[in-house]
Amino acid sequence: MRIETPRLALREMTEGDLAPLRAILQDPVAMAAYEGPFSDAEVRDWLQRMNDSYRAHGFGLWAVILRESGEMIGQCGLTRQRILGEDVLEVGYLFNPAHWHRGYATEAAAACRDHAFGVLGAPTVYAQVRDTNIRSMNVAIRLGMTVRGRFDKRFRGVTMPHLAFAVDSQ
Ligand SMILES: CC(C)(COP(=O)(O)OP(=O)(O)OC[C@H]1O[C@@H](n2cnc3c(N)ncnc32)[C@H](O)[C@@H]1OP(=O)(O)O)[C@@H](O)C(=O)NCCC(=O)NCCS
Repeated sequence: MRIETPRLALREMTEGDLAPLRAILQDPVAMAAYEGPFSDAEVRDWLQRMNDSYRAHGFGLWAVILRESGEMIGQCGLTRQRILGEDVLEVGYLFNPAHWHRGYATEAAAACRDHAFGVLGAPTVYAQVRDTNIRSMNVAIRLGMTVRGRFDKRFRGVTMPHLAFAVDSQ
């Protein structure tokens, strides 16, 4: 699996990506919406779950590679989620803060949205966003999404109000 955009390439993550993956999942700024940085064990578990998802569904969160340097700068991809009582496809995005503010998250997420519509035949793509995460909401808005509802998620012992953003295939 490989998706290319003008500046980025998306591909499956492997054990070899653990260092740049830790740089994202153990960064306090990047992980603010997740109640703080992950432990080493949580990072390994995350990578394992992505690899399980690649095998089960053919997609998951992929590594986002900056084509000009080959550096892994983020993660973006598709996962199956239950949102507002429905089983749906979600586009997710988490980038190293050193690479925010350049439009990379929107570029990668738009390619994933188009993959969901064009290759997987999804009627709708969702993004679930914690109500404090304005940067993430702005990516969802740039993807053409609107708010479809609100719900609470429990993660790491904390109840987090979320908004369900979505865009339809036409
Ligand atoms: C959510 C997240 C990926 C958004 O990152 P981001 O840098 O705000 O989003 P983009 O990469 O789309 O960049 C948009 C910015 O780049 C600017 N930009 C610069 N060059 C650009 C270009 N060529 N094309 C588009 N935008 C460009 C935009 O004007 C915008 O500016 P702003 O930072 O002043 O708002 C990032 O904040 C993150 O990783 N957060 C932590 C993880 C997380 O919470 N994920 C979401 C869980 S729901």
